Amino acid sequence: MSAAEHRADWRRSVRLFRAFLVEQTDPDRFYGELAMDSAAQVNAFHVLRGALLLDVGGGPGFFASAFENLGATYIAIDADAGEMRLHGRDPGPRTVQADGTMLPFPDGTFDVTYSSNVLEHVANPWQMADEMVRVTRPGGTTVLSYTLWHGPWGGHETSPWHFFGGEYAARRYRRRHGVDAKNRFGQTLFAVSATQGLNWARTQRAADVVAVIPRYLPSAVRWVVHVPGLREVACWNLMVVLRRRAPDLGDRSVGSGTLGDR
Ligand SMILES: C[S@@+](CC[C@H](N)C(=O)[O-])C[C@H]1O[C@@H](n2cnc3c(N)ncnc32)[C@H](O)[C@@H]1O
Repeated sequence: MSAAEHRADWRRSVRLFRAFLVEQTDPDRFYGELAMDSAAQVNAFHVLRGALLLDVGGGPGFFASAFENLGATYIAIDADAGEMRLHGRDPGPRTVQADGTMLPFPDGTFDVTYSSNVLEHVANPWQMADEMVRVTRPGGTTVLSYTLWHGPWGGHETSPWHFFGGEYAARRYRRRHGVDAKNRFGQTLFAVSATQGLNWARTQRAADVVAVIPRYLPSAVRWVVHVPGLREVACWNLMVVLRRRAPDLGDRSVGSGTLGDR
């Protein structure tokens, strides 16, 4: 597979899962693998060569070089200066500190707006999603990808106890480890569902839905996103791809997006 090609087969899912197992012990390997895969996946929806891309919640900037290698000009924002320096990294001038729910950019600035594993950390995630669509140019692409609360990793480091409730999982973690979990339910971790994301996407007035896919799963099982209930548990991470409409069409055909696969 070339760097720009993206094939969602079983081998790729296994490779990502293996990398996920070493997230804490070998973050360079995990994030490097994830970033390369993500850039190729985005490139399949919007050719990155020559594109100006905004990564919302870019964290320590692991994704920068993967997007740049495919020809994008990469800019990121993150709300937390500490996160930007995680794992001893310095994201440099490409990352600015800002809140994704109030993006400091004019309408239509970017060719591509991207967010990976951030919405579940935001108290008002759909305000952030609206902002991403706003700063995307007509014809440009917005890619939202987030961890589902009812999936196996919904509670993050408190998983799988989040299945018994976020508060319970947080208390249990504190009892076991003597400290609060980094991702604190109700403060920096929220119960975001696939249905919420689909409802938000369907009612978009400014963008059409291009694809809704389980980000890490093979294309052979993409149908799970269409099964209410099952999708919340099985998808793990939902990716929603939208194409920005021209402004003069923005108020028409509400909810006409085709929730098709790709
Ligand atoms: C789990 S990390 C994801 C980092 C990277 N995008 C990835 O996929 O590996 C979540 C990031 O979202 C950032 N974040 C949380 N709330 C935010 C907000 N309102 N605006 C911008 N960034 C936010 C956090 O600081 C953190 O860096």
